[in-house]
Amino acid sequence: MKNILIVGTDRGLGLALTQKFLSHDWQVTATIRKNDNPEEINKLKKEFNDTLHILHVDTTQNDSVDEFYNNLQESKFFDVIYMNAGIWGPLHQSSAEATDDEVLQLFMTNTIGPIRLARKIMENLKDGGTLCFMSSHRGSVDRNIEGGLELYRASKAGLNMMARGLFSEFNRKNITVLHIHPGWVETEMGTLDGTVSAEISIAESIDGVYQVVLRNMGSKKNLYLDYKNMEWAW
Ligand SMILES: NC(=O)c1ccc[n+]([C@@H]2O[C@H](COP(=O)([O-])OP(=O)(O)OC[C@H]3O[C@@H](n4cnc5c(N)ncnc54)[C@H](OP(=O)(O)O)[C@@H]3O)[C@@H](O)[C@H]2O)c1
Repeated sequence: MKNILIVGTDRGLGLALTQKFLSHDWQVTATIRKNDNPEEINKLKKEFNDTLHILHVDTTQNDSVDEFYNNLQESKFFDVIYMNAGIWGPLHQSSAEATDDEVLQLFMTNTIGPIRLARKIMENLKDGGTLCFMSSHRGSVDRNIEGGLELYRASKAGLNMMARGLFSEFNRKNITVLHIHPGWVETEMGTLDGTVSAEISIAESIDGVYQVVLRNMGSKKNLYLDYKNMEWAW
């Protein structure tokens, strides 16, 4: 049975990804932030009691990452680690208008947090394992021809840069690093809390993302792909 860690799973794409891997007989360790009522993931736990293991981590908080790391050590070596957690940042998306706190929160969540956590738990990724990051087409420098959305774009471009660095740095472990754009999806983030329409459903996105992981895991490549397995320009 294959083993995956998915970070950020109480709603949206992370929740659907968790359900998808469980339904294909993977052992899943799913993380949520400390949350009083993680209703959906608790429902999954009832259905997949033997194969779903739930842990807590806030990827922006060092104490939380340390606690998570200690809890992980007992058991786990993963075939795949999937860093999904992310935020959109301030609605205006303008560097001129953003407060320092908004910038810090966005870059800690989308850029530094996932990389720092990946570094911390790299020993829990099997040799030849696959590290996935939920990137975005907005992180492509090459494809930014219309401007705007500068904060979110920069946070994901930074994530791409740093994740690419991990690929080279840990090549002794023969790892694969995938940066995956899930499409523009009907989640709380994708619809800006229900105020705009997105392009695809969560099911369509996650069907694709799942196939992308399966097709490319263990390839020992560093790839920037969308949910249809199309390569994206860096
Ligand atoms: N939806 C899209 O159209 C789209 C497009 C491109 C890329 N993406 C990327 O896909 C990923 C998932 O997005 P989504 O649409 O599913 O968003 P979402 O519905 O807003 O869910 C975001 C998830 O990230 C978690 N999270 C946020 N900050 C965290 C932190 N500091 N520590 C741990 N977990 C944290 C949230 O947990 P809480 O419930 O505790 O807040 C939640 O589980 C993100 O990285 C996003 O940038 C989405």
